[in-house]
Amino acid sequence: MSEAILSNETKGLINKNVIIEAKNLSVAFEAHTVLKNVDLFVEKGETLVLIGPSGQGKTVLLKTLAGLIEPTAGTLSLYHKQWRGLPENEKIKILDKMGMLFQKNALFDSLSCGENIAFPLREKTQKSELEIQEIVDYFLESVGIIHAKNLYPEEISGGMQKRLGIARALALMPELIFYDDPTAGLDPITSKKIIELILELKKKNNATVIAITNDMNRAYQMADRIAMVYQQNLIITGNVEETKKHSNPAVHQFIKGELLGPLNSSFENL
Ligand SMILES: Nc1ncnc2c1ncn2[C@@H]1O[C@H](COP(=O)(O)OP(=O)(O)OP(=O)(O)O)[C@@H](O)[C@H]1O
Ligand SMILES: [Mg+2]
Repeated sequence: MSEAILSNETKGLINKNVIIEAKNLSVAFEAHTVLKNVDLFVEKGETLVLIGPSGQGKTVLLKTLAGLIEPTAGTLSLYHKQWRGLPENEKIKILDKMGMLFQKNALFDSLSCGENIAFPLREKTQKSELEIQEIVDYFLESVGIIHAKNLYPEEISGGMQKRLGIARALALMPELIFYDDPTAGLDPITSKKIIELILELKKKNNATVIAITNDMNRAYQMADRIAMVYQQNLIITGNVEETKKHSNPAVHQFIKGELLGPLNSSFENL
C-alpha cells in the first residue's frame, strides 16, 4: 500500500519513532464516558499541545497517555509495549522515562522547594547528596527560583509554585514530559517565559512534550501539532498554520474565543 493513502494515525502504527500510540481508547468513570474511541500517536521529539473547553477530558487524556488512568477500552502502547498487562517492573522502567507537571502542581507541602526537587532524585537514583544538591540548584536556577530554595510551597507565589512543579518534573531529565496547564493563572510575561523555559529544556534533552494549554498564544508558541479534546474525542487540527485555518466550526470558535457557535451547548453541561 502506498504511504500516500494511509491516514496519519495509520502511518503512526508503522513509524518506529512513535512512542505513544492510542487506538480506540475510551475512558469512563462509572456511567460517565469522558473519552470514546480516541486514536492518537505521538512521535519522539515532537511537542503535541492539547486544547479544548474546560471539563472535556484534557487532563484525563493526558493522565491516560501517561499510564496513570486505566482506559476502559482500547489499547495504549508506550515505547512499543502494550501498557495493559505489562509486568510492573517494565511499567516502572517506562514511567521512569517520564516527568509530569500536574494541573495543581502536586507539590509536597511539608518539604521545602529544594527538598521537593531532591525527593525524586533520592527515590530514583543512587546519586550522592552533593550531586543531588548540584542538580537541585541547577533546576531551581533554570526556573529562576533559587532564592526560594529553603521556603515551603505555601510561602511562594502561584507562579513560583508552577516553576517549582516544572523543576521537579524535570529533575530526572525525563525524555517524555507531560505538562498540564503550565501557565494557568500566570501573568502574560511569566507565561511566555515559562513556555520559553519548557522549549529550552526540551531542546537540551531532545525530549517529547505533551502539554495542555488553553492559551492559544502559548499553544502556538510551543506546538508542533495541536489537538482539541471535544465531545469525547479528539480533533487533530495539525500544525499551527493548519490549526489557525481549520474548517471545523468548534475549533474555529474555540481558538478565536467567540461567544456564538457549536461550543455553547457543551458549556451548558459544565
Ligand atoms: N477521577 C475521576 N472520577 C470521576 N470523574 C472524573 C475523574 N477525573 C475526571 N473526571 C471527569 O472527567 C471529565 C473531564 O475532566 P478533565 O479534568 O479531564 O477536564 P479538563 O478538560 O482537563 O478540564 P479543565 O480545562 O477544567 O482542566 C469531567 O467531567 C470530570 O468531572
Ligand atoms: Mg484539566
